[in-house]
Amino acid sequence: MVRVQAHAKLNLSLEIVGKRPDGFHELVSVMQLVELADELRMEHADDIQVRSSEQSLNGPDNLVYRAARALHTRFQVSSGCHIELIKHIPSAAGLGGGSSDAAATLIALCTLWELRPDCEELVQLAAELGSDVPYFLYGGTALVTGRGERVTRLREPESLWYLLVNPGFAAPTRDVFGELRSDEWTDGQCTRRLACDVSEHGVTRIGVNGLASALFRLQPEAQPCFERVRLLAPGSTFLSGSGPTVAAQFSTREAARHAEHMLRDSGYWTTITRTLAAPAGTMPCL
Ligand code: C5P
Repeated sequence: MVRVQAHAKLNLSLEIVGKRPDGFHELVSVMQLVELADELRMEHADDIQVRSSEQSLNGPDNLVYRAARALHTRFQVSSGCHIELIKHIPSAAGLGGGSSDAAATLIALCTLWELRPDCEELVQLAAELGSDVPYFLYGGTALVTGRGERVTRLREPESLWYLLVNPGFAAPTRDVFGELRSDEWTDGQCTRRLACDVSEHGVTRIGVNGLASALFRLQPEAQPCFERVRLLAPGSTFLSGSGPTVAAQFSTREAARHAEHMLRDSGYWTTITRTLAAPAGTMPCL
């Protein structure tokens, strides 16, 4: 039996810089891994099966199943695996839960099936599964470019606390990108400057989110949640990825708890989490 945690990410800054001939968008983002995580357990079996605490994730469309299948095919593995996925990260929430589950599956199955893929091969396989999946092979704090598959690790920043607030509905990434207008593209410089600050001084601040306007047009009901959190943490509230999860950054757990308490009757899903450094030695070839 192999057990692994699949952590969520936050986009401390995200800029969309253009559209590519393949239909994907070119982006520049600083991503930060946090402690909030799904759990996966896998064991040897004759076939490949995924069982999840969330019914909707039990089919073959689940990224975990597709990751296992892709690795199985690429390396012509003779045995199978049964995977149990226990969800804690909200789905389609801008927190990368599905992508992180897929990356964790690749890493854990390399252990279970005793595979030694070279790094490039694994990153390529991850990129075929989804734009964010390669980042989760590295984790930690990273500058992410291309359609999401080019990952440059940054120095570990100071440890900070985050209050995450989700209004309780999904925002499919594809739909949010579909709503984006070309006049909302930016040059990526704000995010690159933030990456430099992290690298040179270990300082984490909040940048911009180039998908925020598109999300609020697509789902206007996401905006009141954002505004409510912003009132509690002005200057340190941001939307993660394509949303609708709102994050607020705090230097202490007590401050994050106080803000969470102020939302106790909102009906929103909330949790408090903190910066997670890249786990050493989980990635077989990095
Ligand atoms: O790569 P992934 O499957 O996570 O992307 C979901 C959808 O989000 C894509 O089909 C695409 O419409 C959009 N997307 C994009 N540019 C990116 C990443 C995602 O347009 N860099």
